[in-house]
Amino acid sequence: MNISVIGVGYVGLVTAAMLAKLNHNVICIDINKEKVDKINNKESPLYEPGLNELLQEVVGKNLKASTDLKDAILNTEISFISVDTPSRKEGEIYTYSLKKVSEQIGNVLKEKKDYHLIVLKSTVIPGTTEDIVIPIVEENSGKKVIKDFGIIMSPEFLREGSALQDSLNPDRIVIGVKDNDKKSLEILKSIYKNFNCPILETNLEEAEMIKYASNTFLATKLSFINEIGNICKKLSVNTNTVAKGMGLDKRIGPHFLKAGIGFGGSCFPKDLNALIYKATELGFNPRLLRATLEVNKEQPFRIIELMDKHNTLKNKKVGILGLTFKGETDDIRESSALEVIKALLLEDVELFIHDPVAMHKVKTIFPHLNYKDKAQEVVDSSDLVLILSEWPEFTKLDYKDKLVIDGKNVFGNGDKKPKNYEGICW
Ligand code: UDX
Ligand code: UDX
Repeated sequence: MNISVIGVGYVGLVTAAMLAKLNHNVICIDINKEKVDKINNKESPLYEPGLNELLQEVVGKNLKASTDLKDAILNTEISFISVDTPSRKEGEIYTYSLKKVSEQIGNVLKEKKDYHLIVLKSTVIPGTTEDIVIPIVEENSGKKVIKDFGIIMSPEFLREGSALQDSLNPDRIVIGVKDNDKKSLEILKSIYKNFNCPILETNLEEAEMIKYASNTFLATKLSFINEIGNICKKLSVNTNTVAKGMGLDKRIGPHFLKAGIGFGGSCFPKDLNALIYKATELGFNPRLLRATLEVNKEQPFRIIELMDKHNTLKNKKVGILGLTFKGETDDIRESSALEVIKALLLEDVELFIHDPVAMHKVKTIFPHLNYKDKAQEVVDSSDLVLILSEWPEFTKLDYKDKLVIDGKNVFGNGDKKPKNYEGICW
């Protein structure tokens, strides 16, 4: 099929590449010309394992990028929308981009004869598709949803760092339709016909809520294991063994039980804040979700407490390994590592920094720190080392006798831990 993907960021570009790999003809649309040019030069504008290689395969064959949304809508049958839906300062979801794109699509549909299916992938609060997207498209196109164009809400569940594999092997596909719109449903299901995972058909609001409930549950599971970790630390009990014992219970499961300096990224904090804001607006106080955020906000400062315990907050050279919110990505959005750096800038320490892929982004925020091209150089320049993101290479360094404080549980069971090692909450 001919498919356009509007907004090719971390989610949109992976979705577009996956669709091209499935032999669809894909047009990536973005307002960011630099991104568009990079993609057309077979170069990924973001770091995501396997994405560069896949773009080499499909760009020029059945994937291209453009800033011309009108041309894309006129020449494709389906449009996936994955523009950003960030948080406003109070936590409320910011739908400016979504509204703008909905209006642009409506204007093109005004002159398009054939049926067009819109698939919303951006994370939106329940009710957004019905109350915002559909009315804007109808108003600007003069057409009627279901009769003249289709709308589906199909949230994404991609994890950065494994987004390609998650998009090709999802646990489930959720397809939310309006008023049992069979036509739209069958068109989208045809794209996923060779996927061997459950396809759950819901209404629009259920699909929107499945995304929020899933993300806020996962975030709550992390704040839970971090809280258990903080208690275990005080009890000198190994949290990782406790997590292993918990995970053997099928009702709990082994995933998302790695304690650390807290979750970051562009999704968990944003989605928690948006759901808390909406619930509060509706007159309900989401105490558990607030507590999840509160535990997470404090977690990075456990690193500072540990440094204080080791008397390493005064006149020390501190090595920092990892700047991103998790390993295998260049995304620094809501990264706990940046919270640690901000706190250390208030102390009497000198910082030495390395990250495999994201230093260029952090240099624009903290230009005056000592950035090192090699992780070992940071170790060699420092009195102690903080590991703040999960990069496998950090388990292969020669830490000599230096104190290593691990905020991300990077040393798996098989890895040889540094001589002088401490986990943030294990
Ligand atoms: C986005 C949403 O933020 C998130 O809620 C959803 O779950 C998945 O899609 P992400 O891909 O991380 O997440 O967003 P981002 O990396 O910021 O990419 C958004 C892209 O949309 C950017 O490339 C931006 O240039 C583009 N965009 C934004 C447009 O093309 N048009 C617009 O009008 C606005
Ligand atoms: C998350 C959801 O997993 C995904 O389904 C959704 O589509 C987008 O948000 P992402 O934020 O990209 O994906 O990465 P994820 O692997 O979920 O990690 C989120 C944060 O939790 C990272 O900071 C990571 O370091 C942390 N984490 C994850 C832990 O601290 N411990 C764990 O066991 C797992």
